[in-house]
Amino acid sequence: MARKPIIAGNWKMNKAPDEAVAFLRELAPMISAYSNVERVVAPSFLVLTAVAAELAESPIAVAAQDAHWAENGAYTSQVSVNMLSPFIDYIIIGHSECRAYLNETDANVNRKAQAILAAGRKPIIAVGESLAQNEAGETVDFVRAQVSAALEGIRHEQMTDVVIAYEPIWAIGTGKSASGELADEIIRTAVRATVGDFYGGSIADAIRIQYGGSVKPSNMEEFMAQANIDGALVGGASLDADDFAALVEIAARVKGP
Ligand code: PGA
Repeated sequence: MARKPIIAGNWKMNKAPDEAVAFLRELAPMISAYSNVERVVAPSFLVLTAVAAELAESPIAVAAQDAHWAENGAYTSQVSVNMLSPFIDYIIIGHSECRAYLNETDANVNRKAQAILAAGRKPIIAVGESLAQNEAGETVDFVRAQVSAALEGIRHEQMTDVVIAYEPIWAIGTGKSASGELADEIIRTAVRATVGDFYGGSIADAIRIQYGGSVKPSNMEEFMAQANIDGALVGGASLDADDFAALVEIAARVKGP
């Protein structure tokens, strides 16, 4: 089945509100015509309201980079899904930087996914192995376990709102990317197959799975040419309007109808 490609720019801790708005005024006209690709930007919490206001009439969707699973409460520094909901469509959870620096666990990723779906929003669930796991040949088992844990308790009918991003940690921000073929193989055997084990073939076939890790205009075509890769979660290259627009154009051309 045809899956609409989704390109999400994860700005991480970059772009203050004024910079983000200036950037979008440059970027939005460059990518607004590519309606066969879902286009998403993920600014930091502080910048979300300014970005949502700037994009109110735009086809570009907004994502948060994280959320807490509780509705409210004594969680200093955290932001709930309810607070985010008016401003966003997507929330990235389980990013390897959150797993590495903020003690994000599989159990919390699952709580967050449930809270996001219950609020009618869409999680982008990031999974991926470390270099050591990759070299030890543990990638498929590890990624399968991450996917299984993240999806526990999520109902069949909620799965159409789930996006999964396979991002090998050794490829994030390093300039090293997995080969398109290798990424496709892991996505097929560890991500799509795990979804299929739990939810059956038609949901496995429908769910969108991104690749992430040093995606840039020069390697985008290689990833988009793969049957199981439905877009990209992009850090560094999403901070540059020309690069981001090139990624959208390539996705539209390679995957488009
Ligand atoms: P990168 O980041 O494109 O800079 O490697 C990807 C990510 O962390 O989502």
